[in-house]
Amino acid sequence: MKKVLGIVASPRKLGNSEMMIKEIGKHIPVPCELKLLRLSDFDIKPCRACYTCLFKEENCVIKDDLHKITEAVAEADGLIVAAPTYFLGANALLKLLLDRGLSFYSYLDRFWGKPSVGIGIAGIEGKEGYTLLNIRSFLKLTMTDIKMTGMIYGALPGEIFFNEENKQIAAAMGKALFGDRLETKAPSCPLCGGDTFQFTGDNRVKCMLCSNPGTVETKDGRPVFSIRRAGHELFLSKKEALQHRDWLRQMKGRFSEEKSRLKEIGSAYLKGWEFIKP
Ligand SMILES: Cc1cc2nc3c(=O)[nH]c(=O)nc-3n(C[C@H](O)[C@H](O)[C@H](O)COP(=O)(O)O)c2cc1C
Repeated sequence: MKKVLGIVASPRKLGNSEMMIKEIGKHIPVPCELKLLRLSDFDIKPCRACYTCLFKEENCVIKDDLHKITEAVAEADGLIVAAPTYFLGANALLKLLLDRGLSFYSYLDRFWGKPSVGIGIAGIEGKEGYTLLNIRSFLKLTMTDIKMTGMIYGALPGEIFFNEENKQIAAAMGKALFGDRLETKAPSCPLCGGDTFQFTGDNRVKCMLCSNPGTVETKDGRPVFSIRRAGHELFLSKKEALQHRDWLRQMKGRFSEEKSRLKEIGSAYLKGWEFIKP
């Protein structure tokens, strides 16, 4: 029996995100148990950038519910994530959880390579902004194997199913979760499958998902992206993810070495400013 975790990023109960996850769950062709987790039910505090979690196994020093969520992810065999668009991006709860992602490195063995699907829901077609990039980034940085992602539309709770096609998308996602990755027909990054690029001058581009640089050419009227690996691979292979974790860890040594220089820089910005307090 496979364990599937459905992460509902929307705070809206029985909203489109929740219903879509439940619909996807109905179409998983292998015996499975779907458990849901609504992020707004959990106390997730912002990351404090203390970096302690990089050294303390499976432990972030902040006292909140992060550990309950990371344990639920670690326990699952597959992930379904759904998030609504709020002002052109995925709603902030998803990012709030992702911001605690340095602590995911201590779960690397238990997180790595879980199959995942992700769905974004926007109220207005074309007004989804970077929601899908947010969802894919979340799935990549939780080190999952992304099988399928997509955007669907509907503003009112349940409106997504006015359109029968969205049930077909849910069925395809359910089948893809423990099945074959659905290859996208859209031009995409050959390294990570991302389809959002930044144009950095001439024909140079950068994949906004794996952050690697490359170029774009037109072949038979279609854009074709050539992307090469740069340093600091975050999630293209487990080995590279471990290397990046080790690089982050050695920052502690660098911090000690540079402490007096950094203190001198900071001292020029210490006094003479006023903070508005709540
Ligand atoms: C604060 C807020 C901001 C929103 N911003 C957008 C937006 O930028 N673009 C859009 O298409 N829909 C936007 N919507 C609509 C939601 O994406 C839409 O209602 C979606 O179905 C909500 O999913 P849910 O039912 O899972 O919460 C917004 C909704 C809220 C509450």
